[in-house]
Amino acid sequence: MGGQRGFVVWLTGLSGAGKSTIATGLAAELQGRGYPVEVLDGDEVRQHLSKGLGFSRADRNTNVERIAYVAKLLAKHGVVVITAAISPYREARARARQEIGEFVEVYVNCPLEVCAARDVKGLYKKAMAGEIPAFTGVSDPYEEPEQPEITVFTDRETPAESVTRIVRQLEEMQYVRGAVVEAV
Ligand code: ADX
Repeated sequence: MGGQRGFVVWLTGLSGAGKSTIATGLAAELQGRGYPVEVLDGDEVRQHLSKGLGFSRADRNTNVERIAYVAKLLAKHGVVVITAAISPYREARARARQEIGEFVEVYVNCPLEVCAARDVKGLYKKAMAGEIPAFTGVSDPYEEPEQPEITVFTDRETPAESVTRIVRQLEEMQYVRGAVVEAV
């Protein structure tokens, strides 16, 4: 399959909003349709590419820049890249968009109270007790996207529903072809 156009699906949202779950589901769906897919997940990137970085504004933006850099390289070679980092600052996301070009911003929207109640990693409890400084949404900013290509609402949609809506949006933007409904 030559000439496949690479692009980047940039997921942004609070910790625990469901970015990783959606990235995994979206990757499976697109792989199933024959696309080469790579996921750059914040938690994983921070163990390798961004090892040693903290959570200051500068460090978070460096993290985002590194992810954008790798994503761009992969997309250049026809890979569909899905990134899943909080990426809390608008300015840094705008730079990533500009740098990458073929950029689809997905706001993984989930109210802070719901993320905190889920508390999958037990971090909100600690953050709210003041044990983790500068925790996004609690004691550090999260700047909501103003014009994302799509917003998914993980407090009201199942991951499968969110993935389906993202795929439809990608079809509409002609980044992916519609699923083959019948074979001739
Ligand atoms: S980003 O802000 O630089 O984009 P990234 O997505 O890579 O963040 O990492 C976020 C993850 O790091 C969270 O899901 C959480 O598990 C962990 N984490 C540890 N400290 C913090 C903090 N102060 N703020 C947010 N997340 C934190």
